[in-house]
Amino acid sequence: MTLTALDSQFTRTAAMDRIVAMANDKGGVGKTTIVTNTAGQIAAAGYKVLVVDLNRQANVSDDLGYRGRPGVDDQGEQLYEAIRRPDKNTLVAHEVRPNLWVVPGGRELAALTPLITMNMQQQGRAAYLGLAAALAPLAADYDLILIDSPPENIVLVDLALAAARWIIMPTRSDTGGLIGMKLTAERFRSAREINPSLGLLGVVLFATLSGARAIHAEVQADVSAAFGGQSPMLSSTIRYSERVARDARRAGKLAHELEIEAAAQPAFWEALRDGRKPGRHSAATASVSADFRALAAEVLDIIAVQEGARA
Ligand SMILES: Nc1ncnc2c1ncn2[C@@H]1O[C@H](COP(=O)(O)OP(=O)(O)O)[C@@H](O)[C@H]1O
Ligand SMILES: [Mg+2]
Repeated sequence: MTLTALDSQFTRTAAMDRIVAMANDKGGVGKTTIVTNTAGQIAAAGYKVLVVDLNRQANVSDDLGYRGRPGVDDQGEQLYEAIRRPDKNTLVAHEVRPNLWVVPGGRELAALTPLITMNMQQQGRAAYLGLAAALAPLAADYDLILIDSPPENIVLVDLALAAARWIIMPTRSDTGGLIGMKLTAERFRSAREINPSLGLLGVVLFATLSGARAIHAEVQADVSAAFGGQSPMLSSTIRYSERVARDARRAGKLAHELEIEAAAQPAFWEALRDGRKPGRHSAATASVSADFRALAAEVLDIIAVQEGARA
């Protein structure tokens, strides 16, 4: 498709205002974990949610437990084809939990970088509208679409930012995450040339000690300096727990799903009394799950307020 063809065929619909991209150029800042857990909790609350995995490593498939599942895990093949020819290929999403749908990522997405680089020569920045065009026909079927983007890949991040209405930037308190955030803020500015509707929903602090007020205040100051004095920090933070992170990814379950299992297991003292093995789940699962629930609610609130303001 040429530039003019893509530009004229693709019109941003109102339904695309519910597309949110998770982005930070740095890896390990919680992008994937936040996408899967907020998507999972919003879906469990009865909304229809779609997760689009733009990662070659496809960690969404680990969090949601569908890695290697026949008929679902295509390693990003149909996502690649839909971005290559959005006029020809309609994306098919897979329901992996009630109300929670995925378009899987994986190694086939490696072919996107050379494809978009080549299209750029003819189309300029409009080449990045490929994902937006691929999602346009599906957007009205969902209440929320979350795109998980990879670290250190300008092409894939730019595809996500051209499709999204909102960007959420997770960071950890270390400087690496903050530098990644600054790099992403630069991508954000150029993305607005082809997608003027893109806005920053907020920055979320990931894997932090809950109640670490001094650190939170320092990060808030760094973030607001990076964004020219504005203060885009979300008030929700996700607390640190290696135990929950390991248990969740190993089991292919989300924090709130482990929380439900934990609530059903016998109390430690009951297990001891009855000579049974104590339950496997740490009490931290409920706290981490509550953090994701609060974040999900904050995100939905911000979107609702913005939509209300325009209505
Ligand atoms: N609450 C948590 N506390 C500490 N580490 C976590 C927590 N949740 C997830 N992790 C771990 O943090 C690492 C990075 O998370 P991930 O979501 O994969 O980041 P990204 O997608 O930005 O690379 C992973 O190894 C994950 O298991
Ligand atoms: Mg990731």
